[in-house]
Amino acid sequence: MEDDRELAPKIRALAEGERAALPLLCNAAAVLYQDMERVSWAGVYLLRGDELILGPFQGKPACIRIPLGKGVCGTAAREKCTLVVPDVHAFPGHIACDSASRSEIVVPLLDGEKVLGVLDLDSTELDRFGEQERAALEEVAGVLAGVLARGEGLL
Ligand code: SME
Repeated sequence: MEDDRELAPKIRALAEGERAALPLLCNAAAVLYQDMERVSWAGVYLLRGDELILGPFQGKPACIRIPLGKGVCGTAAREKCTLVVPDVHAFPGHIACDSASRSEIVVPLLDGEKVLGVLDLDSTELDRFGEQERAALEEVAGVLAGVLARGEGLL
């Protein structure tokens, strides 16, 4: 896909009329993985208690549980802000699910102040994610958080 700004409208359209969150999260992972170039992993973790638990994703198998505050995902969830990591080797505590991963972006899924989970994308390319990707993925996260918060549960 040429323009990342098309991602959120595409995912919003797939969510139209559907109130179960799980299939939407599955399709969102597929859209992000298929449409974005040079992305090696795309998916979500959902917060349960003080742990992030692996949700729908595309890419290699990943670690299942991440404590709040740990790794890039746990830090973004605790801080409730997007983390763009141009070089994961320079991020203290980065959790390497795939040794080939070099850069990462994690966007919290927020319902107001409440953290529902995170959207996570990895790349084997250094510095893959910039401001354009951040804006597009924050919009995608808003769509996913909306379905998680106002839908009928996962299924
Ligand atoms: N690298 C992440 C772990 C999740 S995988 O990238 C899919 C982290 O440090 O939280």
